[in-house]
Amino acid sequence: RREESTCKECNRTIPDFPKPGILFRDIFPLFRDPSILSDLLDLLVHHVQQNFKDKVDVVVGLEARGFLFGPMLALRLGCGFAPIRKKGKLPGECIQVSYTLEYGTDVFEMQKGAITAGQKILIVDDLIATGGTMMAACQLVKNMEAKVLECLVIIELTDLKGKEKLTDPFHTLIDFE
Ligand code: PRP
Ligand code: ADE
Repeated sequence: RREESTCKECNRTIPDFPKPGILFRDIFPLFRDPSILSDLLDLLVHHVQQNFKDKVDVVVGLEARGFLFGPMLALRLGCGFAPIRKKGKLPGECIQVSYTLEYGTDVFEMQKGAITAGQKILIVDDLIATGGTMMAACQLVKNMEAKVLECLVIIELTDLKGKEKLTDPFHTLIDFE
């Protein structure tokens, strides 16, 4: 298994993006090396299988960077995938929730019927910062009367204490101060 430090080296830090004062952690360098991507996916699959065995019904991914990991994880777990998207992108009837993130505000939507009452959901995103985005995703899943098994991310920006906002189980592969 690749060390956490190697994974950290694959994330670039860009100061003042997308706004002054934000230290942006760019995950895209990870995707340049298929062996790193493959190890990362193995770590995610291993974690879920160890902790939830065959319990996950649906992986829910958050636009946009959660879409990079969600479907490939769902494929490996043998379960479905459902998207949460930013306002106005999903056709049909949707439910929505407004939220605040580290550098702005937005509205998330989910299609009615994308997940159903009682299903066990794994929410996946690339990163948690202030936790506003993940909290909004949990709210949408619960509004559908489904159960959040876990909020799973690749990177936690620990100084921003986002996980303290969450009331559902949380796991990260990498901590960043
Ligand atoms: C980023 C990131 C998380 C969110 C975390 O998404 O991918 O979803 O911010 O921030 P928070 O913990 O402070 O809420 P962003 O809204 O920038 O969208 P993108 O994935 O489309 O770039
Ligand atoms: N999303 C919210 N805050 C972020 C940060 N500092 N870097 C990358 N993505 C983010």
